[in-house]
Amino acid sequence: MYSSIVRLQNTFGFFTTVAFAVACIIAASDLFSARTPSVGVLKTTNVQVVRGRPHYYSSKKEEYAIIRFSLDADLSSLFTWNTKQVFVYVTAEWPSAGGSGSGQNATNQAVIWDSIITSPSADHLANLGPVAMRKLRRSAAGKSIDPSRGRLSINNQRPKYQITHPSSKVANQEDVVLRLHYNVQPWVGILTWNPDEDFLKWKTLKGNLSRKFALPGLKKKDEGKTGTRS
Ligand SMILES: *[C@@H]1O[C@H](CO)[C@@H](O)[C@H](O)[C@H]1NC(C)=O
Ligand SMILES: *[C@@H]1O[C@H](CO)[C@@H](O)[C@H](O)[C@H]1NC(C)=O
Repeated sequence: MYSSIVRLQNTFGFFTTVAFAVACIIAASDLFSARTPSVGVLKTTNVQVVRGRPHYYSSKKEEYAIIRFSLDADLSSLFTWNTKQVFVYVTAEWPSAGGSGSGQNATNQAVIWDSIITSPSADHLANLGPVAMRKLRRSAAGKSIDPSRGRLSINNQRPKYQITHPSSKVANQEDVVLRLHYNVQPWVGILTWNPDEDFLKWKTLKGNLSRKFALPGLKKKDEGKTGTRS
């Protein structure tokens, strides 16, 4: 004989099973929408190395690099009805000199810039002031998906983060490249990064690397300042 508790349990159990199945279907649906992002332009526009305190809380003076860059990328295919937000970031990478005991082929990698692009339905999560928020909402009035937000065109962008190295030396470093990365945060499902290889309908990020460049020699801080102010 069923007591009402057991009945409630069964109903609730059925409900969670259905909800779980629906969530799985939504998450899996992402696999069937093609992701074909590409980068048109990723290049440095101004690179400087100065010696000083890279952050106001730095305790010692060290060399740091300020890398300005331009980026043109089309990430619009990442914005589907299950996309909550896309996190985009640019790293600078160079081969490690290998002296510091780690494997010789290690790569130094540091983030120089990042940005979060929300879907219109997730705009309330964006970390913006009221004016910028109103502008953002107006830009997608009435739309719940706005792939055009994935089209990035950024010119001579100042880096958010300066590059340093534990050895305190970055001047004259050769073979540095910039690389664009993204990750997609869905409403339902797991966080996914740009794949290293094509995965079903998800293509690798075409043109994700810039040309190789070298960090210049050390510049006096005062000269550097006038050059980087904007
Ligand atoms: C570094 O890469 C080379 C060639 O790719 C390889 O022969 C060598 O074993 C690697 N060294 C280490 C420490 O991984
Ligand atoms: C970067 O681009 C190259 C060629 O366009 C591709 O082979 C590689 O898989 C890409 N890497 C990532 C992490 O997207």
